[in-house]
Amino acid sequence: MVNLIIDGKNVKADKNMMVLEAARSAGIDIPTLCVHESVSRSGACRLCVVEIKKGSRTRIVTSCLYPVEEGLVVDTKTERVQNVRRLVLELLLARCPESDVLWKMAKEMGVEPQTRFAVDTDKGKCILCRSCVRVCEEIVGVSAIGLFNRGSHKTVGTPFMEKSDVCIGCGACVYVCPTGHIEMTSAGDKRKIWGRTFKMQACEKCGKYFAPIDQLKYISKKTGTPLKEMMICTNCR
Ligand code: SF4
Ligand code: FES
Repeated sequence: MVNLIIDGKNVKADKNMMVLEAARSAGIDIPTLCVHESVSRSGACRLCVVEIKKGSRTRIVTSCLYPVEEGLVVDTKTERVQNVRRLVLELLLARCPESDVLWKMAKEMGVEPQTRFAVDTDKGKCILCRSCVRVCEEIVGVSAIGLFNRGSHKTVGTPFMEKSDVCIGCGACVYVCPTGHIEMTSAGDKRKIWGRTFKMQACEKCGKYFAPIDQLKYISKKTGTPLKEMMICTNCR
């Protein structure tokens, strides 16, 4: 364990923790967008910034990636920290003005509705955090999506924005996306995502459609579980 001071509070934290977890374990809230327990961290959104003090030096760091250390002094709500967070949020809102999640955070942080920056109208709600790309690569293991193009044209999607042969329609990307950018619709035995339509499997017990057949085949192949043993949904197992 290590001892640190966060917002004037003595906090004990596991030596492997990041400052974000140490703060949360002490009941101190730090806003985040790109942190999800299922994926590795990218430090992409910069909303979780805090100020750390070592000797006479202070620095702004991203708390989700900064490891705790003995004697570290952290401030999560100084004027400097709040200004950086407001600026970050203003930039994100200029990119994604349709995002309810961002507007809610902006209201909580007192960010003015009029951003100083040129507003994009073609980026949807994507803040380019890469969580969807990471979950597809690290957890699902298919790498169906990625970030493409450069600079302000950077966008998330399937290669060349064409229908992906490797996507299994699992929706893990939708689950981790912090802003609700990825569209997935389900109706009857069909699920649509990333421009493809997937046929869903009905549970042999309750009859509900519960997973794309492509996803079940993929899991069966990966785990060696016979496909016929996977036809029952998790609720009925
Ligand atoms: S689609 Fe969502 S998860 Fe993927 S990069 Fe954009 S905001 Fe992040
Ligand atoms: S939550 Fe830390 S950079 Fe996004």
